[in-house]
This record gives sequence, C-alpha cells and structure tokens, in this order.
Amino acid sequence: MNLEWSKLPFGYVKTDYNVRSYYKNGQWSDIEISDSEYFPIHIAATALHYGQQAFEGLKAYCGKDNKVRLFRWKDNAERLQHSAKGLHMPEVPIELFYKAIIKAVELNKKYIPPYGTGATLYIRPLLIGTGAEVGVKPASEYMFIVFVTPVGPYFKEGFKPVKIAIVRDSDRAAPLGTGTFKVGGNYAASLRGIVKVHKAGYSSPMYLDAKEKKYIDEIGAANFFGIKNNTYITPYSTSILDSITNRSLMKLAEFMGMKVEKRPLPLDEIETFEEVGACGTAAIITPISEIIDLDTGKKYHFCKDGKPGPISTKLYNTLVGIQHGEIEDIFNWTEVIL
Ligand code: PLP
Ligand code: COI
Repeated sequence: MNLEWSKLPFGYVKTDYNVRSYYKNGQWSDIEISDSEYFPIHIAATALHYGQQAFEGLKAYCGKDNKVRLFRWKDNAERLQHSAKGLHMPEVPIELFYKAIIKAVELNKKYIPPYGTGATLYIRPLLIGTGAEVGVKPASEYMFIVFVTPVGPYFKEGFKPVKIAIVRDSDRAAPLGTGTFKVGGNYAASLRGIVKVHKAGYSSPMYLDAKEKKYIDEIGAANFFGIKNNTYITPYSTSILDSITNRSLMKLAEFMGMKVEKRPLPLDEIETFEEVGACGTAAIITPISEIIDLDTGKKYHFCKDGKPGPISTKLYNTLVGIQHGEIEDIFNWTEVIL
C-alpha cells in the first residue's frame, strides 16, 4: 500500500472489506463481511427507480496517542433512522449500525490515516431499497452497507478561506420536502448548482430557502454559520440537514462564552457578519472569504487579510483537538474504538 496521506483528496480509495446486512420479512440479518466493491441488485429495486435510499457520513480519527476515535457516532445512527422514517424504510437498529461501523473500521485499520496528516478514515453507511416494485411504493427488502475510505479535506483548500456563490435557479430541497433527511435525491438536486458554481470558479453553492429566496439555507454539503458581536448564528430551516458538526460548534461557542442563535437568517444580514463559514463532517470548518450573488454580481467579502477569522480558528482548533484526543472531551463526544 502506497498512499500519500497528506495529499489525499476527498475521494474514493479502495479498502479491503465492507460490511452488509439484509432486511427481509421484517428482520435485519446479522452482519456479513465482503471483500467485493460490488453487489448484484434487482433491476426493479426501489433505490434505483424511486430514490429510496439514505446514507450517513462520519469519520474515524487517529489521535496523537495513536488511539482511534469516533465522534458522536450515535447521532449519525439516529439521523439515519430519521432519514429511513422519512422515506418509509425500516430503521437500522442503533446496535446494528454500531457493530457494522466498528467492524468496517477494524477490518480496514491499515487505511486509517496517521495523526498529523490532515486525513481521516471516512465511514459511509448506506441504506437502500433492494426489493422490486414498479408502482411507487416502499420496498419490502433493504440492504445496509458500510464502507470506509481514507479522505483528505472536502475543500481542497483545507482550513483556508473558500469562495461561495449564491444559486437561485435551482433548489436543493423544498420547505416540506426531504431536506432534513440525508438522502441521495437532495444531492442529485444539488448537482445543477454545484456544476454551475464550479464553472464560475467557486467552491460551493449557497442555497437560499426555496419558497421566498430570502433566507440562507445551507452551503452545498455543509451548514452555514456566521459570527458577529460575540454571537454564533446559524440558520433554522425545515429544508436543511441538522449537522452534527454544527450542533457541536453551537455547544463549543456557548462554552466559550458566546451567545448562540438558531433562527431564520435573512440573506440581507450577511453584510453584518464578522466571520462566516461552512461546517460539516467532510468540510470540518471551512471559512468563507467571498460570497457572490451570481444574479446581481454583488460580492460580500470576509477574511480581508486572507486568513480565517479568530473565532472560526478557535472553534476549528477545539473541535479538531477533541476529535483527535488532544483536548479534553468534556462533552463525551468521542469513543476510543482501537
Ligand atoms: N448539510 C448537508 C447537506 C450535508 O450533506 C452535510 C454532511 O453530512 C452537512 C450539512 C453536515 O452535517 P454533519 O456535520 O452531520 O456531517
Ligand atoms: C459529509 O459527510 O459531511 C458530507 O456531506 C459529505 C458529502 C460528500 C455528501
């Protein structure tokens, strides 16, 4: 194996094993281990035709002490249950989720990037409808798969400011649609925005609320936050994913003596922020230096010296420090697994 850990992009690298469980006759099977990257699937499976699927994303972090930690894995397990309910799929029991992710990490431990490389082992649990249906209805059979892959930072810049573009001619999710579920359909819907802003030279789209286009929703595959007057502010919306990273940053901000607000956040307010950023498992904290409104050409600038702001930096260092076991985990977010 010859991986240059510190140069890894956020992409797929083959590992040795994945873990699978099957749902049939109302029951989940015990886990199976596979060394294949493929599986046969029925041509009429609901996942293929009607998007009946959901996934998760979490990471295993190698610490300075060489121990391997998971971060808030139970929140991911619960969110997968929330997504499953949203698409009328059976919930993956919390114990099965845990057993599968632990097994997948253990079996591929040689792929866990060493401490200090900026890379981590990304864990991707996936739930799909495998039963055949032609009418639009929930399948009666499902498969739960967990694979892992070593990844670098989601935005190739790492902890460096990125430029974001507001998209108005496509929506990721409707106000009462599937935005709070981590389901493939939302990502399919976001591809138009992603490709459009990449072509214009921007890292990621900013989505506004689909109904009025007045409030900030989220940044591609990450939540949005802004900081002003010692306050951490993040959008409340019925069409965005409830980010576990964002939940953690809200707690950390509070612990640092900041006020925290989760509320509808008008785009007009953006000019008043001292710092803005995107957050998520993959994005960690990604500071934003510029937001362009592609329709009007108006630009909002942050990080005027080209560097991440002081509060974003402190939040980043604390979060990453806890994840790697360097800062005391007073919230009990981490679990040593290896
Ligand atoms: N928003 C979207 C659309 C995402 O795909 C993700 C990633 O999972 C996030 C936000 C961040 O969520 P989390 O911090 O739980 O990874
Ligand atoms: C995450 O896990 O933070 C993501 O949203 C990853 C993305 C590639 C879907």
